[in-house]
Amino acid sequence: MDTTIEPQVVSMPRIGDKAPEFKAVTTQGEINFPSDFKGKWVIFFSHPADFTPVCTTEFMTFANLEKDFEALNCSLVGLSVDGLYSHIAWLRTIKEKIEFNGMKNIEVKFPLIEDITMEVSKKYGMIQPGESSTKAVRAVFFVDPKGVIRAIIYYPLSLGRNFDELKRALIAMQTADAYAIATPADWKPGDDVIVPPAGSCGTAKDRMESDEVQCKDWFFCTKSLPLN
Ligand code: BEZ
Repeated sequence: MDTTIEPQVVSMPRIGDKAPEFKAVTTQGEINFPSDFKGKWVIFFSHPADFTPVCTTEFMTFANLEKDFEALNCSLVGLSVDGLYSHIAWLRTIKEKIEFNGMKNIEVKFPLIEDITMEVSKKYGMIQPGESSTKAVRAVFFVDPKGVIRAIIYYPLSLGRNFDELKRALIAMQTADAYAIATPADWKPGDDVIVPPAGSCGTAKDRMESDEVQCKDWFFCTKSLPLN
């Protein structure tokens, strides 16, 4: 029997697109996305299923870091294709029974969307049939305060997300916006940043002669940022 999965056309929003709009029922009441979050960053993420171990560790970690993300003006919104009562029961079990990595008694206070119809998950390309046609993969959409998608990360079902990386990516994008710079490989807050390549011969010459940026060559200049 041929078990090859025929490629399907799956629509997915892209970096730079306006985040597709939807209204949804969540564990914190109804939300209108992204309009309810105007002026804030949002990490909108999907997980495969309630009452599964990897997802449980991810939810505990997200909930544990929620204050850090809020301090960065970033809200969290989760989704799975399970129903509201399953979500409620799972979040109650997590709080009452589960310990992980030193975390316990963890209350998930951010909204978790019920998406039994898969309407939202399909809109965001979270159902990837080669991986599963009944569960969402682990997608992460970073949506900026204007409702624009700024970064997208996808993980397969078996791979729990790296939360240091999610936080680093958010801070890097906020820093890039604030200072019109870029961030190099493995950048972390406090490290030098990249000055975007010069767009004219004059700028290239000025850069090479400037004391404020350090250039290895005209196209490769870095600088430090004020500490804050
Ligand atoms: C989990 O979250 O543990 C999980 C979910 C779906 C497939 C495999 C693992």
